[in-house]
Amino acid sequence: MGYTITPYITEQEIRTRTKELAEQIKKDYEGKPILLVSILKGAVVFLTDLMRALETEDVTIDFMVVSSYGHGTESSGHVKITKDLSVDIAGKDVLIVEDILDSGNTLSTIIEILRSRGVNSLRICSLLDKPSRRTTVVPLEYTGFVIPDKFVVGYGLDYSEKHRNLPYIGVVEFTEN
Ligand code: IMP
Ligand code: MG
Repeated sequence: MGYTITPYITEQEIRTRTKELAEQIKKDYEGKPILLVSILKGAVVFLTDLMRALETEDVTIDFMVVSSYGHGTESSGHVKITKDLSVDIAGKDVLIVEDILDSGNTLSTIIEILRSRGVNSLRICSLLDKPSRRTTVVPLEYTGFVIPDKFVVGYGLDYSEKHRNLPYIGVVEFTEN
């Protein structure tokens, strides 16, 4: 099956919204050290833009790689950490930076794992939110854009590992040939 990609959220819209989110985060954390945690690979583009928009002294970053077992395109929430964080997060204020919150299955498991390590606080910032697809309740403190149930690519998001390099977000439309 072929597909086309239709532009949906422009580079400028992403930049403007990222700046707004960074200002809100800066205000909320009142100068406290923030540890930004991203789950590879999708969130990496958003993370690098968000951290540069964050005008706060003490920002550090770290990454996790997880694999989730599921059927087809649905994630199940059975998450295995394949690369863990490189720092001890006990007592830290951790902000998870995500690309998109879909069913919420993967993230809810990660939240449980990170909470069990004694963080001081744990919040989530997701560039995109598809609330219509949610099956597990996940507290989302910072949201870039709420989108309908469409498959999107670009700005880190992939379809079969491709299109992460698009500077904007596009909707994938499948065609017959
Ligand atoms: P879930 O919330 O556990 O269902 O999984 C969310 C993950 O699925 C995201 O971090 C993405 O990697 C992937 N995902 C969900 N929706 C899309 C989409 O529209 N485009 C690309 N990846 C998506
Ligand atoms: Mg992801």
